[in-house]
Amino acid sequence: MLDKNINLDDKTILVTGAAGFIGANLVLELMKRTKNVHIVGIDNMNAYYDVSLKEFRLGQIRELEDSVSGEFAFIKGSIADKELVCKIFEQYRPQVVVNLAAQAGVRYSIENPDAYIESNLIGFYNILEACRHSYDDGAPGVEHLVYASSSSVYGSNKKIPYATEDKVDNPVSLYAATKKSNELLAHSYAKLYGIPSTGLRFFTVYGPAGRPDMAYFGFTDKLVKNETIKIFNYGNCRRDFTYIDDIVTGVQAVLQCAPLPNEDGVKYKIYNIGNNQPENLLDFVDILQDELKRAQILPADYDFEAHKELVGMQPGDVEVTYADVSELERDFGFKPSTDLREGLRKFAQWYREFYVLK
Ligand SMILES: NC(=O)c1ccc[n+]([C@@H]2O[C@H](COP(=O)([O-])OP(=O)(O)OC[C@H]3O[C@@H](n4cnc5c(N)ncnc54)[C@H](O)[C@@H]3O)[C@@H](O)[C@H]2O)c1
Repeated sequence: MLDKNINLDDKTILVTGAAGFIGANLVLELMKRTKNVHIVGIDNMNAYYDVSLKEFRLGQIRELEDSVSGEFAFIKGSIADKELVCKIFEQYRPQVVVNLAAQAGVRYSIENPDAYIESNLIGFYNILEACRHSYDDGAPGVEHLVYASSSSVYGSNKKIPYATEDKVDNPVSLYAATKKSNELLAHSYAKLYGIPSTGLRFFTVYGPAGRPDMAYFGFTDKLVKNETIKIFNYGNCRRDFTYIDDIVTGVQAVLQCAPLPNEDGVKYKIYNIGNNQPENLLDFVDILQDELKRAQILPADYDFEAHKELVGMQPGDVEVTYADVSELERDFGFKPSTDLREGLRKFAQWYREFYVLK
């Protein structure tokens, strides 16, 4: 059951990870689609990947700010800094909170586990505590907390498509374990303190100014440098790729509908948000190389076959990610409308402008 009553006009919305791929695109869309919205963004601008991309995204928001009624305040800092998080909540009193700040990536959690504990566990706990105290002394407080979970929680789930009722107690990476922990923590805070929360399990999001640690971006970098790309699990991987605009449309709809108490009296909900159309990795790279040629990033006679190497599976990775998004469709009419070729075309055009023509 959903409470459809959060009108985002005139609201103060805290977006953590606001310079990140999904965060910045969400801020842009919120500023375009709502009236007098006050967005407070926090991001620690860490160097997990090229910081100039985070600056570019913040620049896009600054550019838009002059032509819309909303305002954007940016704070450079970490959600793991409890004092800072408390200060932000006291000063701005956000009514809606979107927690997207996290250390992302499955493979990096093997090299640098500390970053995951700090941002994904301590950081998220600080956000929950701040939400809890937003109701102190009878203040109206936070109306809805929406936070990023991940398709990684499904681990090596055999049953496809992945549905939110599936048991997800066997994470195969620390990253996945932190995301599942976020869902558990959010449940306990919803139960104890009545914080209405919705967790979104994102399935591989891609698009312009996306994340360089993701396959489509990394493949492009390598092909441009005339290097060979490694295709894991000998290409026997399927991924549910979702274009960023479709994701942002979905997140925006979810923000406006805090869950009503479920059968246990808890205002708590989890959704998958993905494309429901997994693509084979080999087909995916074929379309990518086509679009890179079309955008003149690769020469028309580029020998793609000579630049791909089929290798085994990486630790922590899973063979297939495939989202059952029927609940999101039922509750919000969510239907991704961007097909893979169209999405990769937009990525390739952006890549050319950002890296090749610069
Ligand atoms: N993009 C995807 O395909 C995908 C898939 C599953 C889950 N997710 C989740 O969605 C969220 C957003 O992902 P994204 O793709 O935009 O990633 P991103 O890395 O581009 O964005 C995350 C942002 O959070 C910031 N950040 C990290 N730790 C922080 C901290 N302690 N304090 C403040 N800021 C911090 C980073 O600097 C970054 O800008 C993440 O929680 C991620 O785990 C994304």
